[in-house]
Amino acid sequence: MKIAALADIHGNYQALITVLDHVERWNPDLVIVLGDIINRGPRSNECLDLIQDLAKNKSWQVIKGNHEEYVLEFDEPDAPKSGPRFETLKIIYWTYKNLPADDIQVVKNLPCELDIQLPGNGRLKAVHASLGGIRVGIYPDHDYSGLLKLIDQKATIFLAGHTHQPLIRDVNGTLVVNAGSIGLPFDGDIRTGYAQLTQREDDWKAEIIRLDYDRAAAQDDFYASGFIPDGGPLAELVLAELNLAWPQLSSCLRNMKHPI
Ligand SMILES: [Fe+2]
Repeated sequence: MKIAALADIHGNYQALITVLDHVERWNPDLVIVLGDIINRGPRSNECLDLIQDLAKNKSWQVIKGNHEEYVLEFDEPDAPKSGPRFETLKIIYWTYKNLPADDIQVVKNLPCELDIQLPGNGRLKAVHASLGGIRVGIYPDHDYSGLLKLIDQKATIFLAGHTHQPLIRDVNGTLVVNAGSIGLPFDGDIRTGYAQLTQREDDWKAEIIRLDYDRAAAQDDFYASGFIPDGGPLAELVLAELNLAWPQLSSCLRNMKHPI
C-alpha cells in the first residue's frame, strides 16, 4: 500500500499543481490532505477547487486546519468589519470574501481528524497539528516525552502538518510523519514537498519528497490576484515567507488572539 500525505497548501497554486503531478505519477492507494488548504496565500479558491475535485472523484481524504477555522470566523455575525484588528487580519478577510458561499460550506463540513484502518492490523490517525490541538505542532526538535503527549501512541501511523517543517520519527513503534508544507515550507528549503508512505510486508517506511516548482509564477500570483495590496499589511510578509522559506507572521502576531 502507498499513501501520500499533503499539508499546508496555503493558496500556493503553482506549488500544488507540481505536487499533484508528482503524486499522480507515483499513483498512491490513498491521499490525505492535512488542512490549511486556504489562506496565507493568494490562490485559495483554485487550490480548494482542485482538492475538492480530487476528494469527490478519487476519494482523497481531507481534514480542516487552523487556517480554515480562521477564515470561518469571518462567517460569524460578530466578525470584525473595521478597526485596527480588522486591518491587521485583513489577509484572512480577503480570503473569506473571495470564497464562494458553496466553498465556505465545504470548509465548514471538513472533519478535524481521520482514523483509517490499514491492511493487516494497522491504524492510521491524521490530524492537522497534533492531539494537543489544531495549533499545537510537532517539530523536528521535539523532545521524546513531549512528543508522546501529542500523538496517538496506539496508531501505526500518525500524520500531521501545521509546523511547515517535515519530520519522520519512530516513536515507540508509531511512525510519526509531519508532511511539511506544500505552499510555505519553513525549514529554509524553498522547494515544495509532500510525504510518501509505503508498506512493505508489515513495515511502513516514510520519505519526504521535495520538488522545484515555478516560484516566479507563484510570486506573480501575489500581485495578479490582488492579494497584494488588498490583503493588507501581512500579505507582503507572506511573500517574504515564500521567498525565505521561514516564518515571518508568527512573531508579528504573537500578542494577538489570532497567532497565524
Ligand atoms: Fe499552515
